[in-house]
Amino acid sequence: MKKLEVFGATKLKGEIRISGSKNASLPILAATLLSDKKINLSNLPRVKDIETMLLLLKSLGSVVKNDKKVTIIKNYKQSKTYASYSLVKTMRAGILVLGPLIAKFGKAKVSLPGGCAIGTRPVDIHLKALSKLGVKYKIIQGYVHAKAPKGLIGANIRFSKISVGATENLIIAACFAKGDTILSNCAIEPEIKDLTNFLNQMGCNVKWISKRTVKIKGVNKVKDLNYTVMPDRIEAGTYLIAAALTEGKLKITGIDPKIISTEISIIKKVGANIIQKKNEIKIQGNKKIKSINIKTSPYPGFPTDLQAQMMVLLCKAGKKSYIREEIFENRFMHVAELNRMGAKISISGNRATIEGNIKFEAAELMATDLRASVSLILAALASKGKSTINRIYHLDRGYEDIEKKLKKVGAKIKRISQ
Ligand code: UD1
Repeated sequence: MKKLEVFGATKLKGEIRISGSKNASLPILAATLLSDKKINLSNLPRVKDIETMLLLLKSLGSVVKNDKKVTIIKNYKQSKTYASYSLVKTMRAGILVLGPLIAKFGKAKVSLPGGCAIGTRPVDIHLKALSKLGVKYKIIQGYVHAKAPKGLIGANIRFSKISVGATENLIIAACFAKGDTILSNCAIEPEIKDLTNFLNQMGCNVKWISKRTVKIKGVNKVKDLNYTVMPDRIEAGTYLIAAALTEGKLKITGIDPKIISTEISIIKKVGANIIQKKNEIKIQGNKKIKSINIKTSPYPGFPTDLQAQMMVLLCKAGKKSYIREEIFENRFMHVAELNRMGAKISISGNRATIEGNIKFEAAELMATDLRASVSLILAALASKGKSTINRIYHLDRGYEDIEKKLKKVGAKIKRISQ
């Protein structure tokens, strides 16, 4: 099993270029299934989740040619509608193929993604909304068996709760429904806007008509396209936090600071000087970190995907801070490991109390999920001595070239394959 050794403490200095967004690439890849044409995608991050999604597309009959810069997807003969458990189980975004398959073929059999470490993560909102477009479904032995013999019919649907995945699945499906669909109470993460840009450039007709409402006019054909996926705002936020934590000085390039303005203003308040330019952010960490109370919430709120990283930074604050996790019920698994490194964090329900003034100590650690893994790397960078982080396959799901990028800015980090 692979592990990482990190030798701290290090002040990070230099430039980091942000990769393409994993969470934008996944729904865009799923949406390619609507097409029977050729699609060239640039800026997909080379991470495990993208590999898994490409395998899933291949298993459905897409022809995929993947080189370093461009991924070419040809769906001239794509005709399979069965998404197997073996591929969907490792990555919850696998459920996103349900929308395009049912819209294109009127039937699909897609494995339920199941729970995962950070919470039960059901797909009831996806299924309920799809049924309003005319989909009939049964769940048999862990698979959604869905059909819509007369095709999908546009409808007005209000999501009972804001869900990123359900918004994406429904937007994609509605592109091939007869007539108009209006979806309200939608998630509006930048990755969803990237998906709707992609769909429109492919020939679909998707229009945001108010903050959380989108109108989709059904179409029945699409065209060839070249598309460049947006940069990864969670990766950018992670490196900004790393700079603040290590009193480092980083130039983060390849990302428009506007899409992470909430994160930037919180990191500034807590303790860093930040200069924003077009597609560039310069950050210099301060000696003093201030305490803050934050809660995670859907965009434009503070992202749950940066909660673990932010918690590491707050361990350095002069006073007590609080974080309320409002999105997932079990997203504090990094806490036990951070406490083993000397942090003093206690949990009550969805609220974490973080005592400040911590000096992290290097330790042998276990990664539990994607963002928890990176939070341990951050804490290890701030600890004196050697930390070993086990189970880094979680990390490889979502951070492109993390060791290479960190090494370039001065981190001492080594991958051990046993
Ligand atoms: C996406 C992101 C993930 C991020 C999350 C929240 C991708 C590939 N993943 O996940 O990185 O942490 O958004 O920003 O983009 N829920 C239900 N029923 C449903 C769907 C969701 O109860 O049918 C609940 C979930 O359990 C969770 C909340 O709604 O508590 C939000 O989940 P959702 O926004 O759907 O997250 P994902 O799309 O799975």
